[in-house]
Amino acid sequence: MKKDLSNIKKSKYLLDKNQCIGIPTETVYGLAANAYSNQATSKIFFLKNRSKKNPLIVHYFNAKDLERDCKINLDFKKLYKKFCPGPITFVLRLKKESKISKNVTNGKKTLAVRFPNNKLTRKLLSTLKYPLAAPSANISSKLSPVSKQDVFEEFGKKLKFILDGGRSKIGLESTIINLCGKPQVLRLGGIEISKINKILKRKIIYVKKNKKISVPGQNKLHYSPGIPIRLNKKNPKKDEAFILIRKKKISSINYFYLTKNGNLKLAGKNLYKTLRKIKNLKYKSIAVERIPNIGIGQTINDRLKRASIK
Ligand code: TXA
Ligand code: MG
Repeated sequence: MKKDLSNIKKSKYLLDKNQCIGIPTETVYGLAANAYSNQATSKIFFLKNRSKKNPLIVHYFNAKDLERDCKINLDFKKLYKKFCPGPITFVLRLKKESKISKNVTNGKKTLAVRFPNNKLTRKLLSTLKYPLAAPSANISSKLSPVSKQDVFEEFGKKLKFILDGGRSKIGLESTIINLCGKPQVLRLGGIEISKINKILKRKIIYVKKNKKISVPGQNKLHYSPGIPIRLNKKNPKKDEAFILIRKKKISSINYFYLTKNGNLKLAGKNLYKTLRKIKNLKYKSIAVERIPNIGIGQTINDRLKRASIK
């Protein structure tokens, strides 16, 4: 507890000095910097080797803080009440007086925002005078990190500090919903669309591709362990790692189970961890069993598909 407090103090000290640090969230770890500072946010792009055209998600403590920078609407209020803090990101219109750095938005008039649900990160946000821009803490196109160790594997000593908040509980990125105009889901994530539909009392569509409000990089290789992945396979090839959704009677050294019982939420939580483990064991390729395309299974399949693009 005392250690947590001193780590939060250290995080604040570095962030106030325009440095980047790793922060825990319930989805994946983020690479965070002061969202109001050009100097701080430009470091994020440099460290991640990320295109400046790809805007960042900004993390707030609560809706009151958010209203300094964004216009909110009724749909936002309903979803915020139900899911926040939690794994959902809203795309909203920026206010004219917003202090968000141009690096964050790539000059656009919209901002992606979220309220992460991790105790330490919430405590940290509550002590800062600015929100935190934070993309996932991985080198662009690579696997997202779900622990302090994973972030260290990505950046090594280039990163001054990583706040340790334990394993990410959801283990998959947030669901992104665009609330400028007709609501649309832009990225599948930790909250199922059916749950959003229930709150908004209408069917929200998922737009994979939309030129006007594109999510840059969404169609390129992403979430990749850096080795080929083959999907919907019944068996692995010789020497290939095989990912299965639930434990089976047959087992082998190259079999990796996402869960004991096939629970899809748990499978989602274990996905990136398993992919990283396989990569670190130096397997040359991965086969994955068919994953049911329902609930969080849809998010898992989305990530695996993007990770398997050749
Ligand atoms: O769970 C998460 O969302 C994690 C944690 C760290 O919060 N963050 C995350 O950030 O996944 P990132 O940068 O890896 O993915 C954010 C996605 C990018 O594809 C980006 O293009 C899109 O959000 N995005 C950011 N601002 C946007 C905007 N104004 N309109 C549409 N898409 C936007
Ligand atoms: Mg990412």
